[in-house]
Amino acid sequence: MLERLQKIISAAGITSRRASEELILNGQVTVNGVVVTELGTKADPTVDMISVNGKPLKVSAERLYILLNKPAGYITALKDGQGRRLVTDLLKDVPERVYPVGRLDYNTEGLLLLTNDGEWANRLMHPRHEVEKEYHVRVRGKVLEQQLKRMADGVELEDGKTAPAVVRLVKSGEQHDWISVAIHEGRNRQVRRMCEAVSLSVVRLKRIRYGSLSLGNVREGQFRYLTEAEVNELAGWQPKAAPVRTAAKGRGERSHDRPGQKQTPLGSARAARGDAAPAGKKNESRGRAVQGQERKPFVPGTESGRRTPKKP
Ligand code: URA
Repeated sequence: MLERLQKIISAAGITSRRASEELILNGQVTVNGVVVTELGTKADPTVDMISVNGKPLKVSAERLYILLNKPAGYITALKDGQGRRLVTDLLKDVPERVYPVGRLDYNTEGLLLLTNDGEWANRLMHPRHEVEKEYHVRVRGKVLEQQLKRMADGVELEDGKTAPAVVRLVKSGEQHDWISVAIHEGRNRQVRRMCEAVSLSVVRLKRIRYGSLSLGNVREGQFRYLTEAEVNELAGWQPKAAPVRTAAKGRGERSHDRPGQKQTPLGSARAARGDAAPAGKKNESRGRAVQGQERKPFVPGTESGRRTPKKP
């Protein structure tokens, strides 16, 4: 399918849409060996050889969006010189290489998104769109009201004052309290540093929410694919004419070793955003979504999906 070059480049995760335009204008992009400097130029990433600075673009056939419940003791980098376990070790059956959206510390647990859709990831992480992330923090001893208030108002860190946050006591125990911290920023080790700044000692840190997405029943070390509506909603994309599929028997419905995988993956970013909806189906898709089916997963291998379901 023909698409604009800047969209193809940004979706491949190289850089943002805007920066991709710059690459094109600067003559750094070739299509089938020919330098292209015109922004409207279209290409088919499955057919044409697109290169950026002489390096062929690796375009995945399928866009995947994953919610992983990360255990402590895994790193979000894709390789590690110290031989530590990688979050991608937990995604054994995922057919494409996916990348974490942002990071969680080695010892932080909870909700981590991974995708091979660079444009979607960039959008989520862009400061303008910074989605609210909520953490549950187990801290040593008793938390004082004043400490919560200071964190909520913003604390001075070495890289500047933190933006206002929503901070509350969740549970009080004998030796430890649990607090909830909801922030929009995404600075390195931010929650740990905010706690340190008010003399709270963090024992456990778990991200329980990313925007509208919660961990739900995804157990530690397991994952599930996002639904079409979740992908659109997180990025603030209008579900233009996204093909909404009800549960036909397909790959994603088979029971899995990991219960978290039971939902089906999205077939492609284009499908997710509705660009690929067949002409004449637009209203039908919209109508169905409005009828409360937004959270139904898109089933690849069906009419609009790209992968053929494997026989059970
Ligand atoms: N804040 C932290 O301190 N660590 C994380 O992993 C995420 C947010």
